[in-house]
Amino acid sequence: MTSRRQALGALTAASYQRVLGANDRVQVGFIGYGLIGRQHVSDFKNQKDVDLAAMCEAHQPRLEEGMQEMSPNAKAYRDFRKMYENKDLQAIVVSTPDHWHALHTILACAAGKDVYVEKPLTVFIDEGKWMVKAARRYKRVVQMGTQQRSGLHYQKGRQLVRDGYLGKVVNVRMHATRNIMPGFGKFPEGTAPSELDYDMWLGPAPKRPYQQLRSLYHFRWFWDYSGGQMTNLGAHHIDIMQWIMGVKGPSMVSSVGGRLALDADGEVPDTQDAIFQYPGFTALCSLREVAVGRRAPGLEFLGTKGSMVIDRGGFEILPEMKIDPNNAVPQFKGHSSGGVQRSNTKPTPYIQPMKEPGSSDQQFDLHVRNFLDCIKSRQKPISDVEDGPQITTACHLANISLRLGGRSVRWDADKETIVGDAEAAAMMRRPYRKPWDRVLEELKLV
Ligand SMILES: NC(=O)c1ccc[n+]([C@@H]2O[C@H](COP(=O)([O-])OP(=O)(O)OC[C@H]3O[C@@H](n4cnc5c(N)ncnc54)[C@H](O)[C@@H]3O)[C@@H](O)[C@H]2O)c1
Repeated sequence: MTSRRQALGALTAASYQRVLGANDRVQVGFIGYGLIGRQHVSDFKNQKDVDLAAMCEAHQPRLEEGMQEMSPNAKAYRDFRKMYENKDLQAIVVSTPDHWHALHTILACAAGKDVYVEKPLTVFIDEGKWMVKAARRYKRVVQMGTQQRSGLHYQKGRQLVRDGYLGKVVNVRMHATRNIMPGFGKFPEGTAPSELDYDMWLGPAPKRPYQQLRSLYHFRWFWDYSGGQMTNLGAHHIDIMQWIMGVKGPSMVSSVGGRLALDADGEVPDTQDAIFQYPGFTALCSLREVAVGRRAPGLEFLGTKGSMVIDRGGFEILPEMKIDPNNAVPQFKGHSSGGVQRSNTKPTPYIQPMKEPGSSDQQFDLHVRNFLDCIKSRQKPISDVEDGPQITTACHLANISLRLGGRSVRWDADKETIVGDAEAAAMMRRPYRKPWDRVLEELKLV
């Protein structure tokens, strides 16, 4: 029988950390040394007040590779619960697949650690509520890995929009397109390689036979572990969109799409479009895995006086032209009497164009720095855990609509609930697999 200790482990060691001074070194433990885990080890290494004190990996070769980058005397772990029992650690960096983010964060908070957790925060809506509850109850600093917010040009662009430079922003367009046809292949089900602790990798997700794409990196193509590109790339766009526009969430979302062309293992759509209704503006998100076409800007804010295209490399603001509205009316052979008459008014720009560069590396460094500073000041970080559910929820609502055949889903952002649709509302929560289902009850989060 599964005991509480097996599920929770670290909780028996729960201890609150002393507040660190500005000159103290922060002892950091890392879970996950994959694509972004490597990046974060390097990001934290760039900081002068950090000891890379522990590494946890479910994959033995990755654990060994990661350990080579750690500080002298760092400890290696295969089971994160053991790492959480290490009282020397003040902070945990969670770079595991999406289906682990909530539990890795909640248990770290309960063990008295501050947390830097990768986006998307969750695989289903209710997880975000539990994460916020745990972070606040245990008084932890939890930074989400939406590092774009730390980019100086993103902050400047945000200020310009908020100051009304673009006029009234009525629409935001988001795109993420590439062509990966025919996909990453088809593989038979089999036994997991001995170097991977597949049961630990699966964690709270349903037990499924191992299959090559159901693990390292490629977990993104399966609903059990991910919300597809909507929560992967879409989450970055939606984060910046909601942060700049200062909104908690959409009031209505609908989405269509499917796996239309990819010939590879996986479930999530290769083509998806979502429409979001926000208070005072609309937003569109188009995700393409199998066709690029004429490349559209990643993120574009359309205002009545100008538009702003913004990505990790910088932003560009283009003015709208002030015209006589009569001159926009088609003429063909001219209007008959009483019809619209054109004037000689020349178009003039509403605002000055503007350009600002940005850098992806700088965004990671500043985001990590902000986390470390907040560990010491106990302030909320720039991507505080409270913002995370709002972003990820917008993505999940789009996926719920898609999986229900495209019907509109209404959302009450204040009450954090789906309105008037029991079937959609039931998709806000999924069960955790044993023994992980014990965690929420034991911590009284549900
Ligand atoms: N912020 C960004 O720009 C950005 C970029 C890439 C990925 N990400 C996010 O980072 C997360 C990880 O993505 P990735 O591409 O690095 O994945 P990955 O598969 O390359 O790496 C994840 C690692 O976590 C390990 N792992 C899984 N469960 C574990 C457990 N219970 N204990 C210890 N180790 C465990 C795996 O073995 C694997 O090595 C995803 O949620 C993704 O959305 C963010």
